[in-house]
Parts: sequence; structure tokens; C-alpha cells
Amino acid sequence: MNFASDTTAPAHPNVLQAVLDANDGSAPSYGADLWTDKARQALGTIFETDDIAITFVNSGTAANALALSILCPPDGAILCHENAHINCDERGAPEFYTHGGKLHFLSGAHDLITIRAMAPVLEKMDRHFVHETPVDVLSLSQLSEAGTAYTQEDIKALCALAHKANMHTHMDGARLANALVSTGSSPADMTWRAGVDVLSFGFTKNGAMGAEAIILFGEQAKRLGALEARRKRGGHMPPKQRFVAAQVLAMLQGDLWLSLARQANDAAQALAKGFVEAGAVLQHPVQGNEVFVCLKDGQATALRNAGAQFYDGPDGSARFVTCWNTTSADVQAAVKVLS
Ligand SMILES: Cc1ncc(COP(=O)(O)O)c(C=O)c1O
Repeated sequence: MNFASDTTAPAHPNVLQAVLDANDGSAPSYGADLWTDKARQALGTIFETDDIAITFVNSGTAANALALSILCPPDGAILCHENAHINCDERGAPEFYTHGGKLHFLSGAHDLITIRAMAPVLEKMDRHFVHETPVDVLSLSQLSEAGTAYTQEDIKALCALAHKANMHTHMDGARLANALVSTGSSPADMTWRAGVDVLSFGFTKNGAMGAEAIILFGEQAKRLGALEARRKRGGHMPPKQRFVAAQVLAMLQGDLWLSLARQANDAAQALAKGFVEAGAVLQHPVQGNEVFVCLKDGQATALRNAGAQFYDGPDGSARFVTCWNTTSADVQAAVKVLS
């Protein structure tokens, strides 16, 4: 009953096999290898575009911080939800990598940014007023910290508003796969076709060992050189990058990444259904692989005494994260405690 986080899950055997297969003799280093080339091509196919530039890192924090560093100048700001991972859980990495860029927060139910919250900030903004920090980037998390998903229409509207204000757009796609499965959108429709300029695309939570892609779309693809320079300077250019790229290739092969996200999402739906049937109230809609539930007195202790692992959410609810390897036995055992 490990519902602590999808980062506690093992790597999928296909990923490990791909790393073993890549461990065959010498290969060019620092991303000049065949696996990196193939992973780039495979991602181009999935996102249905050649107008794309891609690099790889090991952690989601590195992906976000590096991606944002090419979009936000040191004297600019990034608009994000107040509960966004880039604000609450990255130890100031975005501010550090942007050399001082500021985060500007919006609130919003279920940790989602709305046009209603964003528009007044942009209307009030005066780029020529030297005392003000203008917002240069909009960063959206997919899934959000509350496990909710933006629809492609939401993203389109938010990105259009940002672009109208001469801002760039970034998506923290640490759980993009889960959002795609739950909304039924295609990777292209959910990202660049909806106006996303730069994507942090996570594979680790979904079943890789440690592999994240930073994807630059359209005009931003020209910034690959700047991104690579920062990746090197920031210490995130793995010499044996083939092993990172091999993981990405294994995840994309046969749409494994989507199957694993579907398994995790299905487990979350089953868990949520069981909790609700047992009389519990959900704090947020379940639109991916996270269930936030309001537990009554004693229920959290009973669950923990039965061996369940989960975190207390910042809003007082309990957070249960399902993974590609969550079993129906895990789900049933947790539900039984509450029933
Ligand atoms: C939404 C979101 N973005 C980014 C990250 C960062 O990933 P990492 O822990 O690999 O740095 C996480 C990790 O939990 C996350 O939940």
C-alpha cells in the first residue's frame, strides 16, 4: 500500500532492459550518441512536428529550472499557481537558474490557473514602470499539484492570453502522460498546438529510472544552443547520455508511457471510487494518478497502522498517489480500512 509518491515506484523492466542493451561497447558522449538521436526522432513523431528541439536531464526540477531559465530574464517574472511545484518544492531552483527571476503567484481552485485570475494581473502590468517586475512567462503544471488536469481548451485560452501580453509559455509536464490519458488529448494538441512554447516532459514518475526531456517548440527551438550551454553550466549534461535516452526510447516504444499512465490512472479511479463508497469526501476531482481525500478522525492512523503510506496534503486532505505498479490488492486493502 505504498501511495506516497510515483517517485517511489520501481523502473519498468523494459527501461532497465533498454539500459542494459545500450551498455554495448563505446558510444559518443554528451548527447552525440545514437540513442539520443533516436529519442529525439521518436519525440518528434509523437509530437507530430519537425519544428522541435530536445534535450534530456535526470530530474524534473532540472528540467523546469533550465527550461524557465531560457524564457525568463533575471529581472523578469514567471506567473504560476501559488501551489506550483516550481514554487513550493524546488528549493528556489527556478530563481537560481534564471539568475534572479521572480515567481508571481495566482490562486485558483484545485490548483488550476484561470483566465479570470490571470487577466487582471496582465491588465494592471506596466512593462515601462521601472519599479514593477513584468511577468515574462506563464508556467502551467500538468497535472497540477492537486492532481487535476487542464483541458487542451484551457491551455489554449491561457497561452493565447499570455502570448497577447508578449509572454512565453512553459508547461511542467511531470505527469503529462496521466493528463493525456485522462483527457484523451494528443501530445501535440495538449502542448504546442495549444500554445505551449517549452515543455518539461517527465518520464521518471511514469516508469523510467531517471529521464526527463526539455522540449522547445516552434520559435523556441532556435534556443537549443542557449539551453545546452546552461545545461552544461548547471551541471546537467550527463557524459553517458545514451543511458538517459535509452530510457526515453523504451518508454515510447509501443506507447508504454501511455499504458503505464493508464494503469496508474485506473488505480486512482478505483481508489477514489472505493473511498467515496466508504463515505469519504474527495478534496479534488481525480483526473490523473492522485487522490486527495478528507479523512475523518482516526482514519489516517488506521490506514497507517494497516501499512498504508501516504502524505498529508498541504490543504489538510490526505494525498494518495498511484503508480504503474499499484495493484488492485493495494487499492482494495486501503479501501477496506475505511469501509
Ligand atoms: C509537478 C511536478 N513537477 C516537477 C517535479 C520535480 O521532479 P524531481 O523530483 O524529479 O525534481 C515534481 C516532483 O514531484 C512534480 O510533482
